[in-house]
Amino acid sequence: MTTTRCYLANDTSSRAAGAERLAEAWSGRPEIQLIRTSSRGAFFLEPMVERDTPKGREAWFNVAPDDLPLIVGGVGGTPVAEIPFLQQQTRFTFANFGMTEPLALDEYQSRGGLKGLAAARSLSPEAIVEELRISRLRGRGGAAFPVWKKWQVAQQTKSEQKYVVANADEGDAGTYCDRMIMEGDPFRLIEGMFICARAIGATRGYIYCRYEYPAAARAMRFAIQKAREEDLLDCDDYPFDLEVVIGAGSYVCGEETALLESLEGRRGVVLAKPPYPAESGLYGKPTIVSNVLTFATIPSILARGGAWHASLGTEDSRGTMALQLGGRVKQPGLVEIPFGLTLRDVLDRFGGGMAPGSRFKAVQVGGPLGSLFPESKLDIPVCYDAFAKAGAILGHGGIVAYDDETNMVELARHFMAFTADESCGKCTPCRIGSVRGREILEHIQAGEGTAESLNLLRELGETMKATSLCALGGRASYPVLTAMEHFPNEFRSKLSAFSSQQ
Ligand SMILES: Cc1cc2nc3c(=O)[nH]c(=O)nc-3n(C[C@H](O)[C@H](O)[C@H](O)COP(=O)(O)O)c2cc1C
Repeated sequence: MTTTRCYLANDTSSRAAGAERLAEAWSGRPEIQLIRTSSRGAFFLEPMVERDTPKGREAWFNVAPDDLPLIVGGVGGTPVAEIPFLQQQTRFTFANFGMTEPLALDEYQSRGGLKGLAAARSLSPEAIVEELRISRLRGRGGAAFPVWKKWQVAQQTKSEQKYVVANADEGDAGTYCDRMIMEGDPFRLIEGMFICARAIGATRGYIYCRYEYPAAARAMRFAIQKAREEDLLDCDDYPFDLEVVIGAGSYVCGEETALLESLEGRRGVVLAKPPYPAESGLYGKPTIVSNVLTFATIPSILARGGAWHASLGTEDSRGTMALQLGGRVKQPGLVEIPFGLTLRDVLDRFGGGMAPGSRFKAVQVGGPLGSLFPESKLDIPVCYDAFAKAGAILGHGGIVAYDDETNMVELARHFMAFTADESCGKCTPCRIGSVRGREILEHIQAGEGTAESLNLLRELGETMKATSLCALGGRASYPVLTAMEHFPNEFRSKLSAFSSQQ
């Protein structure tokens, strides 16, 4: 009997969608050999099984154990290159996804891995930073700060010891691309961090990995060990080593100063800036804290040149963005495209519209601190300045769609309660303001609110925005105020009869 070599994703989302059950059902079947790869991120098609054909890979979607004869018989597959969700994407950072075994360094190299590091080795530290300046890459963790500026500060700050820290806390609800990178292409993160280390003169790195990502932490630890064994991390007399540290299970520990406090073993509490970590970070030493996706973008930039990266996207937002679709869309999954497509296009072309039986009501971009947009705002281009002009944030690229069954007052309360739970407590506006905000919304929900409650929420929001120490308090009111602005009747209808007559 001939054995057919097939590919099945092994990441957390694919396993949750049934990949593991499938692998177990087929284990020991002589007609099939399963290679466990990273996921393409088309989660609505998982479990997806692929096999090689002379014309490239073919795929079977939402596979059940009984589909085995079809797959080994080559019946009814779809060429992967013709899957619209994937075909319309421009994948650079996620080019390996679905193709490689995540922990096979040779496969990473055979698909261009380590070329960025090789290019960096041929450049001076200043020239690496210059390449990043040309690329116009902005940090993908949320603040969208130009990467080269941070690197230049760390490079020019004199110190015996410097650090590189990957922010893998990925706390925004509806985001998962950092997890995918760590589980699916861990050597890319290592390569990006090593390039940064060389540019700023750091010899030690940490990956601060969210507590809820055990598979990602396992994959990273394995890949780091492999990189050590292959002398990837200790070449040209440039020693660099890194380790995975598990986060404290707190949203605010994703904020860079709280993260560094936590990494040093203290409570994750936000510190006032300046000094910025690039000057004085971990143990008071110059430290680059960057998002996983930011680091993972860097190998391609060094390999292809900064000008290549700058040629993609819009004026202020260069390159591609990994958008993560979730909520009530028909096709949840990972979408890497150049900046600039409208939100409507993203939801329609990639999200496939709303899930069967549900109608669109609102979309939230940028996690729990992101604005809630109604249908009329969907023509906004997905890029940093268009979002800023609309009083919104792109954040880490999470896009969550809500359907018409969603109660917007409850949603607003939920996000304010989230900030109240997650506030580190360091500054009064966030610590107290979020609790008061939650209470006002609970009063409204209970039918005890008045028109004054809405004014109070607006005032509270403005105060928190102007005076909080970090974006947790500073942006906590955005989902609440945009829900009130775009869905006013839902709030008004909850006010007490007395006040609605006024
Ligand atoms: C409350 C809060 C939570 C944050 N969570 C994350 C996070 O989970 N991951 C992340 O990369 N950045 C997060 N940030 C942003 C970081 O403070 C920092 O700007 C980022 O790690 C810098 O990386 P970048 O330059 O690659 O964007 C958070 C910020 C705040 C205020």
